[in-house]
Amino acid sequence: MLAGDGIGPEIMTEARKVLEVVNASQNLGLELDEALVGGAAIDAFGTALPDDTFAKCADAEAILLGAVGGPKWDTLPPADRPEKAGLLEIRKRLDLFGNLRPAILYPQLAGASSLKPELVAGLDILIVRELTGGIYFGQPRGIRELENGEREGYNTYVYNESQIRRIAKVAFELAQKRGGRLCSVDKANVLEVTMLWREVVQDMAKDYPDVELSHMYVDNAAMQLVRAPKQFDVVVTGNMFGDILSDAAAMLTGSIGMLPSASLDVNGRGMYEPCHGSAPDIAGQGIANPLATILSVAMMLRYSCAEPQAAQLIEDAVSRVLDQGLRTADIYSEGCRKVSTSEMGDAVVAALTQG
Ligand code: NAD
Ligand code: IPM
Ligand code: MN
Repeated sequence: MLAGDGIGPEIMTEARKVLEVVNASQNLGLELDEALVGGAAIDAFGTALPDDTFAKCADAEAILLGAVGGPKWDTLPPADRPEKAGLLEIRKRLDLFGNLRPAILYPQLAGASSLKPELVAGLDILIVRELTGGIYFGQPRGIRELENGEREGYNTYVYNESQIRRIAKVAFELAQKRGGRLCSVDKANVLEVTMLWREVVQDMAKDYPDVELSHMYVDNAAMQLVRAPKQFDVVVTGNMFGDILSDAAAMLTGSIGMLPSASLDVNGRGMYEPCHGSAPDIAGQGIANPLATILSVAMMLRYSCAEPQAAQLIEDAVSRVLDQGLRTADIYSEGCRKVSTSEMGDAVVAALTQG
């Protein structure tokens, strides 16, 4: 368990409460351990990913992460910051290339969505984001000085065929298990890297005759997500487009505080984290929504611990708490009861223990 920075420790405390209850009641036998990452690790050890922290991650069956980063560390050199030296480093070193970001609307939250209830009723989208390649990791990158004395920043957007194939395989297989529709999002009208992306994904479609494949440019996909989001079943896309589209999709479900994620390697070992960040604007106030992290625990039990029943118990408990009208500020609407981060965690625990 890597709590990280900002609201990270607050939401992680609640996730841990929930995990401990399920661990005991379902006899999961999980051993929990904690370590520092991100800004908290920089402050304590001078590095965002201490060797000891990485060793624990590499040893673990699964990793649960809160969030990293914040204004305090934003002035560090780019390569030393919590986001790159902590989070991206774990993703890369453990080869966690397959990022699943399910945007599901709990019916109780239809009123909290930024879209009209009829546009989001029954929403269940899965964004499959490539997580260890693309422009986030492409070389060369940097900021250089030009002959005329001005500086130039540059990054490289690159994907090779095997990187595209392995993420597309994850997406095709998940589409087979879900609604049978896969939309690959690219910018193949401009960028060669995504022309190759489209070609490779298209070529793989023949191996999945039961999946209906479509392609969409990312600008249109952003528009379609807020126009008619229910047209999507599974969306597969590269690292940066997936980052952006998943935050947009989050809002359809009421709040970014509701969106969990799984980041998996080829063997299904994974890191689990909410899609949101460390929310420095609300950190320390006890008002952050812990449900994205609690739902990430459920994903962890399902994908890395082979405990789908325990996962379901948590998801059902979250649903019951929403039925009771309990809401953190980000998902609050009139007639509901506003609760703090810890009250929300306690309510999920209560719903779990009351069955
Ligand atoms: P953010 O997701 O932290 O916050 C965006 C907005 O959403 C803020 O107004 C915040 O208060 C709100 N929000 C986020 N999570 C919430 C929750 N659980 N409950 C209620 N409201 C919530 O994004 P940002 O402000 O762009 O980034 C802040 C810091 O977090 C930056 O340092 C960024 O690099 C980092 N970050 C980390 C991760 C991660 O660790 N996985 C992800 C995104 C951003
Ligand atoms: C996310 C975050 C990270 C990303 C940042 C903090 C590096 O925004 O997990 O969505 O861009 O992948
Ligand atoms: Mn993001």
